[in-house]
Order: sequence, then structure tokens, then C-alpha cells
Amino acid sequence: MSGQQHEVTFRFLAQPTDVNFGGKVHGGMAMKWIDQAGYACAVGWSGAYCVTASVSGIQFVAPILIGDLVTVRARLIHTGTSSMHMAVDVLARDLRKDEQRLATSCVMVFVALDSPDGKPTAVPRWEPRDDNERRLQLQAKQLLELSKGMEQLIDIQASSAG
Ligand SMILES: CC(C)(COP(=O)(O)OP(=O)(O)OC[C@H]1O[C@@H](n2cnc3c(N)ncnc32)[C@H](O)[C@@H]1OP(=O)(O)O)[C@@H](O)C(=O)NCCC(=O)NCCS
Repeated sequence: MSGQQHEVTFRFLAQPTDVNFGGKVHGGMAMKWIDQAGYACAVGWSGAYCVTASVSGIQFVAPILIGDLVTVRARLIHTGTSSMHMAVDVLARDLRKDEQRLATSCVMVFVALDSPDGKPTAVPRWEPRDDNERRLQLQAKQLLELSKGMEQLIDIQASSAG
């Protein structure tokens, strides 16, 4: 049911096919996992088909190694009219040790569409429940303002290129 599921967690082992020549998970693979978890959370919340609109502030904090238990957590931190803003974290754990480390994090915006080729459509409103969620919502709003500046830069680049 839409408007209920505000968080999604994936868990799996990092496999040999996920890593680069140095034996560490490709940054692009981590980004794929992030996109999938964010997508699952966005569709679950909105009950609609969703597209990725932006990825901001991605940080690769620590490497992920073959055999690590990977946890990808996407949680809603702000909703607009049709947009859903998510904090997405990737955590890695060496199963031989009892410590989990943050590997990657970012903020993503998904937009719900009324059909796969359709127009943006309204999503259920999400409200923060505590100070931590209020702080995350504020960060999402600040990032949105920054991304508006980026859109202007892209428009300038597009007009100078063409
Ligand atoms: C995202 C997309 C649907 C927005 O369409 P649009 O015609 O610009 O729609 P609008 O201007 O009405 O904006 C709709 C919402 O998207 C948000 N949005 C649009 N571009 C954004 C961006 N770059 N970053 C963050 N949010 C963005 C708007 O803030 C608005 O949010 P709101 O409804 O909560 O106020 C459109 O740009 C698109 O289809 N982009 C390609 C998506 C894609 O291919 N993703 C990769 C594969 S899934």
C-alpha cells in the first residue's frame, strides 16, 4: 500500500563479479545498488512507476571487498509534490569481524510518473517523526536549492554547446 513503506534495505554478499582489478567493488556497481534500493523505496512509497531525477553528494568513504556482507539502505527524507528525496547508505561488514563500516552514501531524488512514458504525479506526503529526521529533511531541502543552481549551469552549458 502506498504511503506506508518509507525505508527499504537490501542485503547480499559482494561477489567476485562485482570487483575491479584491485579486488574492490566497482564504484559503478555500488551506484547500481544505490539506484535499485532507492527505486524500490520510491515505488513502494508512491505506488507508481518512478525515475531517478538526481544523485547528490555521493561519497565513497571506504572500499567494499569480495565476501563482505553489503547492506544498502534507502530511506525517505523529504517529499515534494511528485518527488521523493532519499538518503541512501551502503554499509559493508567483514563477516569474520563484528564491525560494520559505512562504504558509500548519497542523497537521491526520484520522481513518480503516472505511466512509464507519462507525467509527474503526486506522491503521499512524508513527515519527519523526530529531530534526526527533521535534520535530514532540512539537508534534502538545502540540496534541492543547490541542484537548482546546477540546472542553471547545465542550461548554460547546453546553450553554449549547441
Ligand atoms: C525527472 C523528470 C520526470 C522531471 O520532469 P519535468 O518535466 O522536469 O517535471 P517538473 O518540472 O514538473 O518536475 C517534477 C518534479 O521533479 C523534480 N525535479 C526535476 N528535475 C530535478 C532534478 N534535476 N533534481 C531534483 N529534482 C528534480 C522537481 O523539483 C519536481 O518536484 P515536485 O513535484 O516535488 O515539486 C524528467 O526530467 C525526466 O524524465 N528525466 C529523465 C529521468 C531518467 O531518465 N532517469 C534515469 C533512468 S530512471
